[in-house]
Amino acid sequence: MPGLTIIGTGHYVPGDPVTNDDLKRVMDTDDAWIRQRTGIHQRYYAPEGVGSSELGAKASALAIEAAGIDPKEIDYIVAATMTADYVFPGIGGQVAEKLGLGWIPALDIRQQCAAIPYAIQVADALATAGAASTVLVVGADAHAGFMPWTDWDVVYGKTERKVSPEAYARATAHRGLAVLFGDGAGAMILRKSPTPGHGFMSADLHTDGALAEGIYIPGGSFLNRPYWTPEMYERQEQVPRMNGRELFKSAVKRLPVSVRKLCKRHGVTLDDIDWFIAHQANDRINAAVRDALKIPAEKVPSNIARFGNTSAGTIGILMDEMVRDGRIQRGQLLCLFALGAGLNWGALLMRY
Ligand code: UT7
Repeated sequence: MPGLTIIGTGHYVPGDPVTNDDLKRVMDTDDAWIRQRTGIHQRYYAPEGVGSSELGAKASALAIEAAGIDPKEIDYIVAATMTADYVFPGIGGQVAEKLGLGWIPALDIRQQCAAIPYAIQVADALATAGAASTVLVVGADAHAGFMPWTDWDVVYGKTERKVSPEAYARATAHRGLAVLFGDGAGAMILRKSPTPGHGFMSADLHTDGALAEGIYIPGGSFLNRPYWTPEMYERQEQVPRMNGRELFKSAVKRLPVSVRKLCKRHGVTLDDIDWFIAHQANDRINAAVRDALKIPAEKVPSNIARFGNTSAGTIGILMDEMVRDGRIQRGQLLCLFALGAGLNWGALLMRY
């Protein structure tokens, strides 16, 4: 068993934060509602022309620096985004190009908010197969492009202008989704741990295609000829459709099962785990998972207040903060868990 461990982390978010009150300029929403229902206070948005490959490359450069390696030592990339710069290709190749990594293989995975446990499992499997030794795992998302408004100058408070009643109504129709997401990237460099018994242990991962439309983008679909039409935009089908309640219930029901299964597999107790690093979709989801597992709140850190849901970025961003401020220490037992579009979900155990 190779047991890849994380030797360097980095994260990046673009520009200045946009608060809940800022969003009130373009839709009918409420700071108290957003805080109470989600835990989010603010989020960041990538400016026009900046995509997830750029966010991912910036986070990756910081991870490479933290690992103290020559970038040329990286021999594989596993990249995750649901908001690639283009419908295709994925961003892995562009991340490599921006970092000057040469023609190394860059694998793009599509597990959305659940991407990082999948990506680490894939990285470990690549190492086991002898296909890679130093892997860059990067999760990056730039959701600004699917926000249901075009008046960015109003959002940023650069004008006193009011948005039109039509624009306000259009954004309000998607407020349950629009307030959740923010842009950002988290990256990690993985390599075989020099300490026997340390590193990746295993993952319990699942996909339920029956819930593919639990959260998805109806526009730009290759079920249609052509796959993009003006009518799609009229129907605002560039904005994801989300069954928030269904996702919430699925997360609260399915994630504790995965965590318990992993613990049983490895003969560890929930008490043995130092940190539960959860995807940041909603503080209430993580509180419910915590309650179901009867684990203390201090072991399930949150940073959703500052970043919102950065999709594939969340776990990498949180881990980077915790590594840099000293909360995550070598030898600690970490349990990652996440649920995202697909529906994909699961948990992962690693001794850091
Ligand atoms: O990353 C993985 C993908 N996403 C998720 O995992 C999301 C999981 N789901 C959730 O986090 C929650 O379901 C939400 C935060 C999306 C919604 O919370 P909820 O408690 O399920 O609220 P709801 O959608 O049932 O809406 C309750 C009320 C509605 O008003 P009425 O019909 O009761 O009058 C909504 O119109 O809250 C209203 N509402 C809002 N009010 C102010 C919905 N969004 C907003 C908003 N501001 N942004």
